[in-house]
Amino acid sequence: MRIVITGANGSVGRNLLAHVAKDAGIHAVATVRSERAAAALPARPLLDVRIVSSDDADGLARAMAGASSVVHLAGILIESRSATYERANVAATETAVDACRLASVSHLVLVSALGADPESANRYRRSKGAGERAVEQSGLDATIIRTPILLGPETAGAAAIMRAVSGGTARLLGGGGYLMRPLDVDDLSEAILGACRRRLPGVHVHELAGPEPVSYRGLIERVAGLTGRSLAYQSVPIWGAKLAAAITSRLTGGGVTPTVIDVITTSETVQHNADRELGVSLTPLSETLGKLVAAWRNAA
Ligand SMILES: NC(=O)c1ccc[n+]([C@@H]2O[C@H](COP(=O)([O-])OP(=O)(O)OC[C@H]3O[C@@H](n4cnc5c(N)ncnc54)[C@H](OP(=O)(O)O)[C@@H]3O)[C@@H](O)[C@H]2O)c1
Repeated sequence: MRIVITGANGSVGRNLLAHVAKDAGIHAVATVRSERAAAALPARPLLDVRIVSSDDADGLARAMAGASSVVHLAGILIESRSATYERANVAATETAVDACRLASVSHLVLVSALGADPESANRYRRSKGAGERAVEQSGLDATIIRTPILLGPETAGAAAIMRAVSGGTARLLGGGGYLMRPLDVDDLSEAILGACRRRLPGVHVHELAGPEPVSYRGLIERVAGLTGRSLAYQSVPIWGAKLAAAITSRLTGGGVTPTVIDVITTSETVQHNADRELGVSLTPLSETLGKLVAAWRNAA
């Protein structure tokens, strides 16, 4: 099996490559946008790294030649002056679809987000929905996997949790009562590779969430308990955080915006968890958190 992974230097991409490395039957091509990103990837047999701009459909198509599946991971939650939702979540997906067609690759896996909806009032969710629509209308066979917050040693969500437990006081938006369905990034990687192996005809949109709903505060308390730290908790009003984010993001041209705060503080809900359809045995949350804390201790 030959697969091409876009956005391969991101947290999901690096985890996926670690899973690929365990299967001698997979030849992977990782596409990244810069030398710096290429340097973040392991050098090993059966892994080719190509530096290609995400708006270069011809260049991507050359990297995709002979692939059985493309896994499109490029995408963002946090915008910057150079990376907007329109560019990173919509246009980059459209270009990946064009490249698949040019390279005659018939199967695409798209990692999307819970709540993705082209009609959403939230700009992030709307852009994820528009990316999904580009895939759904492409004529390609596709597996779209909508994910909640991802937890693994290198994910942004895990980094935020470890930052929160590393100080004496955890400052929680709105008291942290919103519910999350954290998914172990190892489970997502298994789901992606399973979809690449099966390459089902048609378009399949799945939600894949972790096995246990937990409030954000509950998550912080459990991780703090595992690290042996006792924390004080301070509630930050969501309206105040949004006002501050509106001002700073306007000045800096990106970062945390009211849109991001809405995404973070809305409870993650799942209509139907597709762990069985995707052939994944979900990792218990306690095990996922244990892995996070072990990685944090090793890095200290
Ligand atoms: N992590 C989560 O909790 C989570 C939750 C729900 C959905 N997702 C989605 O899952 C996918 C993978 O997430 P991740 O955690 O691996 O993200 P990540 O670590 O932030 O990596 C993002 C990747 O997207 C690339 N990228 C950024 N802007 C781009 C642009 N304008 N055009 C093309 N590529 C661009 C980055 O390349 P550079 O390094 O060159 O900038 C990087 O390779 C993303 O689509 C993300 O939105 C993630």
